[in-house]
Amino acid sequence: MSQSILLLPGDGIGPEVVAQAERVLRVVAERFNLDFHFESGDLGGIAIDRQGAAYPSSTQAQAKVADAILLGAVGGPKWDQLPAGERPERGLLAIRADLDLFANLRPAILYPQLAGASSLKPELVAGLDILIVRELTGGIYFGEPRGIRTLESGEREGFNTYVYRESEIERIARLAFELAGKRDGRVTSVDKANVLEVTQLWREKVSQIASDYPDVSLDHIYVDNAAMQLVRAPKQFDVLVTGNIFGDILSDTAAMLTGSIGMLPSASLNAQSKGMYEPVHGSAPDIAGQDLANPLATILSAAMMLRYSLDAAAAADAIEQAVSAVLDQGLRTGDIAEAGVTPIGTVAMGDAVIACLN
Ligand code: IPM
Ligand code: MG
Repeated sequence: MSQSILLLPGDGIGPEVVAQAERVLRVVAERFNLDFHFESGDLGGIAIDRQGAAYPSSTQAQAKVADAILLGAVGGPKWDQLPAGERPERGLLAIRADLDLFANLRPAILYPQLAGASSLKPELVAGLDILIVRELTGGIYFGEPRGIRTLESGEREGFNTYVYRESEIERIARLAFELAGKRDGRVTSVDKANVLEVTQLWREKVSQIASDYPDVSLDHIYVDNAAMQLVRAPKQFDVLVTGNIFGDILSDTAAMLTGSIGMLPSASLNAQSKGMYEPVHGSAPDIAGQDLANPLATILSAAMMLRYSLDAAAAADAIEQAVSAVLDQGLRTGDIAEAGVTPIGTVAMGDAVIACLN
């Protein structure tokens, strides 16, 4: 049976990196006898330009029927002057909410070939393998009321609301425990329970759920300490589970530990394992359209898509092995090239991965 993949290239370097991932997917489909049907849609700035909305109804209709979605990146200076509610990023938040993609998995793995690219000492990061499980459809990103209002004094005040319901905490916690059970069996829950009631409830609820997973250990850590520990001794962590905004911040830190945000894939899943897959890096408008972007994070996101949503683990393994083989050959895009190494371009990196698949 044919499986449908919706490509949402988005803005900046998004189209270039998604194009390479699509090529890779077509090659593995052929090789593993998979029947994929590709469609493309608009999300983000490009959607604003073409259709007047960051998450237009046409994309919404495509997203609802797709088996899986591969996203490039959204946003760029062209749309920075728009009011907050109309920016490209709102399109991303809208599709996450619309498809109920509450679970964002962000692995931070250090490829041994890239140990020198980390800003930390190699011995601190060698063998690093952390999974950040970020709640993606709640918390302060979505809480109401929100806005900017003018007080009686004439001064303006910005406000957002940080809320989590028990059911929202429970479903992300369960997933974190299940995933940890297949890894090193350790969950660290990140909160700010010493100050924020919402995360006091988070801590209580996560502890309660933990009793259903006797084989997995649970620790709690305040977010400020988590940020410090991530750069002090990152290998102490296995699975970090946290709310939307802390996960946003800590996942960028974790990404940098690996030397290049250009290497890291992510998955955003709903309760049925329908997923949207995207590189952790952004739209990088400064290098867009110049064949400079690293397509590996998107190619690895495609591998996650095969594994989690399309039931094609062997094809996913093949892609991940091909990426590793390319790194073994010493091939690097600019973001991961050590001094003295001549970087290759986006398309050449796609070519190299495909060559290793054959
Ligand atoms: C991310 C990004 C998004 C977020 C932005 C682009 C809305 O930073 O996926 O981490 O904050 O979730
Ligand atoms: Mg972010």
